[in-house]
Amino acid sequence: MSEQDKKTRRYRSQDWFDNPERIDMTALYLERFMNYGITAQELRSGRPIIGIAQSGSDINPCNRIHLELAKRVREGIRDAGGIALEFPIHPTFENCRRPTAAIDRNLAYLGLVEILHGYPLDAVVLMTGCDKSTPAQLMAAATLDLPAIVLSGGPMLDGWFNGELVGSGAAIWKGRRQLAAGQIDNEQFLQIATASAPSAGHCNTMGTASTMNALAEALGMSLTGCSAIPAPYRERGQIAYETGRRIVGLAQDDVRPSQILTREAFFDAIVVNAAIGGSTNAQPHIMAMARHAGVEITPQDWMAVGYDVPLLLNMQPAGKYLGERFHRAGGVPAVMWELQQAGLLRSERPTVTGQTMAQNLQGRASNDREMIKPFAEPLKTQAGFLVLKGNLFDFAIMKTSVISADFRRRYLSTPGREGVFECRVVVFDGADDYHARINDPALGIDAQTMLVIRGAGPIGWPGSAEVVNMQPPDALIKQGITALPTLGDGRQSGTSDSPSILNASPESAAGGNLAWLRTGDTVRVDLHAGRCDVLLSDEEMAQRRASEPVPPVPPSQTPWQEIYRATVGQLESGACMELALNYRAVGHDMPR
Ligand code: FES
Ligand code: MG
Repeated sequence: MSEQDKKTRRYRSQDWFDNPERIDMTALYLERFMNYGITAQELRSGRPIIGIAQSGSDINPCNRIHLELAKRVREGIRDAGGIALEFPIHPTFENCRRPTAAIDRNLAYLGLVEILHGYPLDAVVLMTGCDKSTPAQLMAAATLDLPAIVLSGGPMLDGWFNGELVGSGAAIWKGRRQLAAGQIDNEQFLQIATASAPSAGHCNTMGTASTMNALAEALGMSLTGCSAIPAPYRERGQIAYETGRRIVGLAQDDVRPSQILTREAFFDAIVVNAAIGGSTNAQPHIMAMARHAGVEITPQDWMAVGYDVPLLLNMQPAGKYLGERFHRAGGVPAVMWELQQAGLLRSERPTVTGQTMAQNLQGRASNDREMIKPFAEPLKTQAGFLVLKGNLFDFAIMKTSVISADFRRRYLSTPGREGVFECRVVVFDGADDYHARINDPALGIDAQTMLVIRGAGPIGWPGSAEVVNMQPPDALIKQGITALPTLGDGRQSGTSDSPSILNASPESAAGGNLAWLRTGDTVRVDLHAGRCDVLLSDEEMAQRRASEPVPPVPPSQTPWQEIYRATVGQLESGACMELALNYRAVGHDMPR
């Protein structure tokens, strides 16, 4: 856009604040904003009005740093010639929200769409952090297609306990196993857990929060290097200021998410996710963001684009270290630099910096080769999600980068049949059933058992629970068997190191065949063929389907749970509110 066009362009906010034909309405729109001191001259100056989507609050502690960062964002916006209006969005606090924060991703999305559509805003700073807060806001930005930029809140400082690094989330999974084995007591468990969370910020592991912020950056939606800066570091406040400045330029130049959220960008996000050992939650979130951006991604794309990518980042849960070292090692641009040198990126594409991704990555090689491995010497090869299908589901994934040597030896190393194993299954109907019965000796769970959970998908739970990484019975853990093969129609925490088969779609509650699996059946997994099948004839399965109902799921407890269940799709396709996909670029249409 030319400098002259920029000067004379009319922003959508002027339809509210500067409409000579409806001076009565303009007066009404102006007066209440003025009651906190902003002047009519400012609002009518023809400068862009920039929203700050505030996701921090006392009940979203992972994002609470944004209450501070918003000040620097405002200063950046003002210095660059914009006017800031900050507003809250629906909280999505991963650790605490029952039945699961996942049910609120679509609610936060929906709320932000309505705010951006219905209020006098020309562009928006998306303040992201805790798991779902990032995809929810990017989904909304894609639906609106108004200029938008991501400001990550950043991870907490590294956690330390007894001289060892302890990562948030990862410390919980490990602590649970130590508790079950009798190695620690309740008080020590609490001490380890709190030591893993030493400061403001989101999870310091490569869990879902660090993953989704890294992917926002990989997509081209944040300033270069933004996502990995720890929340308390000075650079975090500095990039908040720069982000505020930059969004004004994006508004002036009318750079829209649709120019950035392209197929190439999403493919690069899939590549980066594999290289960083990203969360399995990235799968539904990438699908949801892509679909709202009008980009189609197939299960074959996940395999073709992502599966062969090596693990380069040495960060928990797939590796050793935590967020501070990741930032010091160069963060996301340093990982992407490796991938670009290897020809794995599609980096000649626009980003919010105003430069291409290839330009953003210039000179970004890491100088910490313990943290970010050279492409030729990866931590693991083939670190992408393995996509599976079979007679129990059409789609599921497995995070192969976290398969331990012990798990590989026990299940995947039978001579002549490497990558293939068969297990008797024990089936649980939801997380409550699992917790009630896992230690029941009558179930006969041994090292050759696969634990299966159903009723844990988007409709079943509702929201889809992070429960598929089921821990073995205490008795087995005491014998040193810390992981069994698991399968389910729910998700697992991004900080878990379990190689579960998860996100199975369609879920049991939607009529997937998991509904008719029985304890005692045998399941065969073939990682090479990408198959997972129950060893039953089609006739037997058809007979069960005809004679038994789908296992019941708990009733909805709130109105939103009922609306969510009635509108949500499956994890395979992102668990989107399906009807929302009928609305694209709605920020271009002025509301009535
Ligand atoms: Fe909020 Fe991990 S619980 S980022
Ligand atoms: Mg989680």
